[in-house]
Amino acid sequence: MNQPLSNSQMRDAEALLHPYSNAVALRQTGVQIIERGEGIHVFDQSGRPYIEAMSGLWCAGLGFGNPELVEAARAQMEKLPFYHLFSGKSHEPAVELAEKIKALAPGRMARVFYQSSGSEANETQVKMVWYYNNALGRPDKKKIIARVKGYHGVTIVAASMTGLPYNHKDFDLPVDRIKHTSTPHYWKGALEDETEAEFAQRMAADLEAMIIAEGPDTVAAFIAEPVMGAGGVILPPDGYFPAIAEVCARYDVLMISDEVICGFGRTGEWFGAQTLDYPCTSISMAKQLTGAYLPLSAVAINLDMAEVIEANSGKHGTFGHGFTYGGHPVGCAVGLKTLEIYERLDITARVRGLAPRFHAHLERLSAHPLVGEARGVGLIGALELAPGKSPKGFDAPGKVGAKMAAEMLQHGVIVRAMTDSIGFCPPMIITEDQIDEMFAPVEASLDATHAWAAAEGHLG
Ligand SMILES: Cc1ncc(COP(=O)(O)O)c(C=O)c1O
Repeated sequence: MNQPLSNSQMRDAEALLHPYSNAVALRQTGVQIIERGEGIHVFDQSGRPYIEAMSGLWCAGLGFGNPELVEAARAQMEKLPFYHLFSGKSHEPAVELAEKIKALAPGRMARVFYQSSGSEANETQVKMVWYYNNALGRPDKKKIIARVKGYHGVTIVAASMTGLPYNHKDFDLPVDRIKHTSTPHYWKGALEDETEAEFAQRMAADLEAMIIAEGPDTVAAFIAEPVMGAGGVILPPDGYFPAIAEVCARYDVLMISDEVICGFGRTGEWFGAQTLDYPCTSISMAKQLTGAYLPLSAVAINLDMAEVIEANSGKHGTFGHGFTYGGHPVGCAVGLKTLEIYERLDITARVRGLAPRFHAHLERLSAHPLVGEARGVGLIGALELAPGKSPKGFDAPGKVGAKMAAEMLQHGVIVRAMTDSIGFCPPMIITEDQIDEMFAPVEASLDATHAWAAAEGHLG
């Protein structure tokens, strides 16, 4: 039996439609209202602390309540609370942050374009690719290849590139220029006796076959997250990205790296493309760019794209794209302070230093009978729950994962169930002791979930 909804929960139910929520179920269970945050913890209305093991939505890399970020926002609000970058206007925080992004990003990025969200960044990516190919006199080269289980956001083109069924169902998506190639998940997707190297080559061959079937003159770009986040923290095997990059180069297909989760230290390098070792022509970034204290996203493009796009804007008299809040001065000031703090903390070394402790826990837990696979890199990881450790997964996907997340919440740790993969992506300020604390309730939660799954008949 559910408790009756509290007054706050009732008001919420009457006032809000929640993203990524089952509105019917929420009417029964009520929302969980979070009131404040400090360090790696958030607190509910009763004052109970929770470890935010997902950094919110993979974004609060510096945790909560950082006074320097608050002060950076306050000072910028006082000086210039808003200005824009349209029609020849600019401001110092936007320029300085773009210079910083250029200095940190791989692939010799030449220009930065701002938006407010990851979805808008990926929307910009596609519009730039189309604009670029039109400028080059290649009007047919427009298709974008993304991947099944990839996540690129929810606006129309970004949601089309996202390779998850619930982003398409009843939204009349994907749009027709967007295609999806295979997910590079070896544990789930390998053929019998196939080695990781053979699997990686087969994934690249799938991409090549799709490019040939669609017609290389019609395929403009390939987009990928270095580590698939919302798809379940899926890491490709060694050799995957180099093989993919070769295929893209062969057919003159641009490579877009969606670093909205992986950017800014999460994988132990500044960008995931460095950890996973692939070249990219452009990069999407958001989330940890401001530690999530303010909405800001950026697209960085290389010199070739920048020159073509700039020349084309000259031809048309304007680059007809831009968001009112793209490059908001307060967001940029907070972004600059965030990057300054990352540098001071030597964030990439810090993440690499913490990773062995983090992965030792995942490895230890992989022995549990309910865990099919443990995986991760840097400070992002997942435990995929499976019946009898089988990669085929549960007959009713998502139920066991949801139960596990609920068990962890009871123990004061907020994790995210992506179907039956339980994600861990804590603020990068976490300490070794706090990593132990975060993982402490996992075994008991797995046991309870296992017993429940057996009783409910989910184990087959
Ligand atoms: C890899 C990736 N790209 C894009 C997005 C979309 O970002 P937003 O929710 O800010 O639109 C997300 C969000 O989780 C993401 O993980």
